[in-house]
Amino acid sequence: MSNTIKELEALKAIEMDAGEVFSGKTSGCKIIGYEKPGSFTPEVDKNYIFHDSSRDVVVWFIAPSDPLYLFGPTGSGKTSLIRQLAAKLNYPVFEITGHSRLEFPDMIGHFSVENGNMQFQYGPLALAMKYGGLLCLNEIDLLDPATAAGLNTILDGAPLCVPENNGELIKPHPNFRFAATANTNGASDETGLYQGTLRQNLAFLDRFTLCEVGYPEAKFEEQLLEQSYPDLPESIREKMVAFAGEVRKLFMGADENPDKLTDRLEVTFSTRTLLRWADLTLRFQPLMSQGVKPINYALDRALGYRASRESRAALHELVQRIFPK
Ligand SMILES: Nc1ncnc2c1ncn2[C@@H]1O[C@H](COP(=O)(O)OP(=O)(O)OP(=O)(O)O)[C@@H](O)[C@H]1O
Ligand SMILES: [Mg+2]
Repeated sequence: MSNTIKELEALKAIEMDAGEVFSGKTSGCKIIGYEKPGSFTPEVDKNYIFHDSSRDVVVWFIAPSDPLYLFGPTGSGKTSLIRQLAAKLNYPVFEITGHSRLEFPDMIGHFSVENGNMQFQYGPLALAMKYGGLLCLNEIDLLDPATAAGLNTILDGAPLCVPENNGELIKPHPNFRFAATANTNGASDETGLYQGTLRQNLAFLDRFTLCEVGYPEAKFEEQLLEQSYPDLPESIREKMVAFAGEVRKLFMGADENPDKLTDRLEVTFSTRTLLRWADLTLRFQPLMSQGVKPINYALDRALGYRASRESRAALHELVQRIFPK
């Protein structure tokens, strides 16, 4: 028996208090977790902030009647929310990233040679179902809709049949959880920005509980920057978050202000980009001595170079307005 299987067979589920785990206050609401973290448990990110979207996911996790479909713009924190929830509960997470050539056997497993013998190696879906882990299928809207619909019976709670392993029938463990993340809600991409996403089969989508994860509110992003980059002055951190908010508005084309910089930006400002901007701004501080503004220099490297010439000019004009000095 491989070490992986030994470790998963030894998992010991325990009840935890959801309030204590996520907010430090006793709530009386029980949530299942495991006694200790294992090799499949994500590392706790000490800077992670459980914000409003987390509530829906925690409620789902406590008593999931259906699998969960988290959708929202890039870098809004979908995958990290799943990982950090699992990390707090010592839950094993099995992650897969969807793509158009992903096939069902990639999720279930395959035969391989171990110690000179052919052994069936369970794939992420089989492991999560058999031992009570969380399967996180990222970018589920990149899956070929026919492959995705092949998951329908599993999503309904039916056992998984593994014909290759002598027809083994894997009953879903009571602690098995299935969460998917995507940039679209599965009904196709209205923005044209998420290339490769496919409109998914309606019967497949109908099986999920949905949760939208937008960018965190300004106060959470300010807190995140403070925790992650305390060396940046508070006023700079606040302006960075305000800048990200303005870029998001321009991206949505929602700015009715006649003084607006451009009709629409084709790039947006994710939480991921915000963290990168803060990080690069600190690292490029020595450029000040050469008369280069680290904020502007870092902005191009964090986002600007991805934008068109016109949008980049608009981004720099916006920086000038928000950071006049
Ligand atoms: N609430 C948060 N607290 C701390 N960090 C966060 C939070 N939300 C997002 N982040 C950080 O933002 C980055 C992007 O998050 P993540 O990868 O989860 O986004 P995503 O929504 O899955 O993006 P994509 O759609 O591109 O896969 C990560 O570095 C993550 O740690
Ligand atoms: Mg993700």
